[in-house]
Amino acid sequence: MRLSRYFLPVLKETPAEAQIVSHRLMLRAGMIRQASAGIYSWLPLGFKVLSRIERIVHEEQQRAGHIPMLMPTIQSADLWRESGRYDDYGEEMLRITDRHKRDMLYGPTNEELITDIFRSYVGSYKALPLTLYHIQWKFRDEVRPRFGVMRGREFLMKDGYNFDLTKEAALHAYNRHLVSYLRTYERMGLQAIPMRADGGPIGGDYTHEFLVLAETGESEVFYDSAITDLKFGDRAIDYDDIAECRGVLEEFTSRYARTDETHDEAKFAEIPEERRRSARGIEVGQIFYFGTKYSEPMGATVTDETGAQVAVHMGSHGIGVSRLAGAIIEASHDEKGIIWPEGVTPFGAGVVNLRQGDAATDAACDDIYTKLKAAGVDPLYDDREERAGSKFATMDLIGLPWRVTIGPRGLKSGQVELTRRKTGETVELSPDDAVARLAEIYAAR
Ligand SMILES: Nc1ncnc2c1ncn2[C@@H]1O[C@H](COP(=O)(O)OP(=O)(O)OP(=O)(O)O)[C@@H](O)[C@H]1O
Ligand SMILES: [Mg+2]
Repeated sequence: MRLSRYFLPVLKETPAEAQIVSHRLMLRAGMIRQASAGIYSWLPLGFKVLSRIERIVHEEQQRAGHIPMLMPTIQSADLWRESGRYDDYGEEMLRITDRHKRDMLYGPTNEELITDIFRSYVGSYKALPLTLYHIQWKFRDEVRPRFGVMRGREFLMKDGYNFDLTKEAALHAYNRHLVSYLRTYERMGLQAIPMRADGGPIGGDYTHEFLVLAETGESEVFYDSAITDLKFGDRAIDYDDIAECRGVLEEFTSRYARTDETHDEAKFAEIPEERRRSARGIEVGQIFYFGTKYSEPMGATVTDETGAQVAVHMGSHGIGVSRLAGAIIEASHDEKGIIWPEGVTPFGAGVVNLRQGDAATDAACDDIYTKLKAAGVDPLYDDREERAGSKFATMDLIGLPWRVTIGPRGLKSGQVELTRRKTGETVELSPDDAVARLAEIYAAR
C-alpha cells in the first residue's frame, strides 16, 4: 500500500476522552472511530489488525479440530425463554421488537442458538464429539462502556461450543480449548495466563479465564510468579490425545493463579513470599464446562450405545477478538506509539523515502516496495512529500515492527537501513538483502 493513496487519519493531538494508552493510541493511529458509546467503526488500519487477529483464531481453532460456521447477530427471544435466560439476563441484553411485534434480541452470546441447531440435526452419539464455533459481533449493553474496544457494547467474539456424550469427553474438549488458546495468544505475542475463575451460578471448577497482565486491566489477579516462566512455544501437540492435552492443562494450571472472585488468602499464603504477586489483568478469553445446563431444558439429547436418550455434555469457550487489539497494545507500546508483534501487525514493514521527488531515490523505493510485495511482506510505503521526521513519527506511532529507510546518501554506496521498531536497532544492507531478511521473518507467519 502507498500511504499517499491509503486512508490513515492519524491524530496529532491526544484525544482527551481516552483514559488508557491503548485507547489513545488506537484513536491517534487512525485505527478506530467511535460511532456511539461503546460502538466503533474499524478504520482501515484497525480493520487489518482485527482481521489478522481473527485469522490466527481461525487457524488455531481449526488446528484443534473445531469447525467454523456463522450464526446471526439477531436472535429470537423464544429460544432464550426455553433456557430461562430471557428473564435472567437483565439490562445487558439489547431487546428489539420487530414490525410483527415479535421479541428479538441482539445476541450477547449463542448457547441457545447453537443448542437449537444441534438438537435439530443430531440424534446419535456417533456424531460426537463435535465442536462448532464462529466469530461474530455480540452486543452487551454494558453500564460503563470504556477503554475503547476493550469494554465496548458491540464487540467481536469467537465463541465455540462442544457437544460430547460424557463428562469425561467434554473435559477433554475443555483441555483441548485450553491448549489451543495458549497457542493462539502466544502467536499474537501475548502471555495470557489461565486463571481459575468463578463458575457463576453453576459453580464447579471447570472454568478458566485467560488474563494478560497490564496495569490498566479491570480484573484483580493473584498468582505465583513461577507461572510467568511457562511457555507453550511451538511444541507439537496431538489434539486427540487425551493424556497429552490433560498434561498441558496440568502444567499450566497447577500453580496458583486466580482472579479476585476465587482468590483464597490461605492457599496464596502457602506460596513462598518472594513469588507471591498481586496485579491487574485483562480478560482476553474464558473456557467453560457446564454439563447439561442447556441440553437438558432444551432437549438436546442423543441415543447412546445402549439406545438410551441422554442429554449431551457441553461447554462454551470465548475469545475477545476485538478486545485483543487493545490488549496487545497495552502489552506492547512505548512513548512513541504502538509496537506490533509480527503475528498481528497491519503491515509487515514500512518503507520510508527520505527524498521524495528525487528520481533515483523514488526508483529505488518503488523497486524495494515491489519486491517486498512479491515476497509477501505487505509493505506500507510512505511516498508522501513530508519531512523525514514526520514520516518516522507516523511509522513509530502506527507501530510496524520493521522500517526500511531509503535516501540518496545510502544509495550512493548501495545501502538502505533496516530498523527494528522494538529496539531501534538499525543495520545497513543492500536493498535485496533487506527484502530477503524481511521475507524470512514473515515466511513462517
Ligand atoms: N464488553 C466487552 N467488550 C469487549 N470484549 C468483551 C466484552 N465482554 C466480554 N468480552 C470478551 O469476550 C470474552 C468472552 O466473553 P465472556 O462471556 O467470558 O465475557 P465476560 O466474562 O462477561 O467479560 P467481562 O468479565 O470482561 O465483562 C471475554 O473473555 C472478553 O475477552
Ligand atoms: Mg468471562
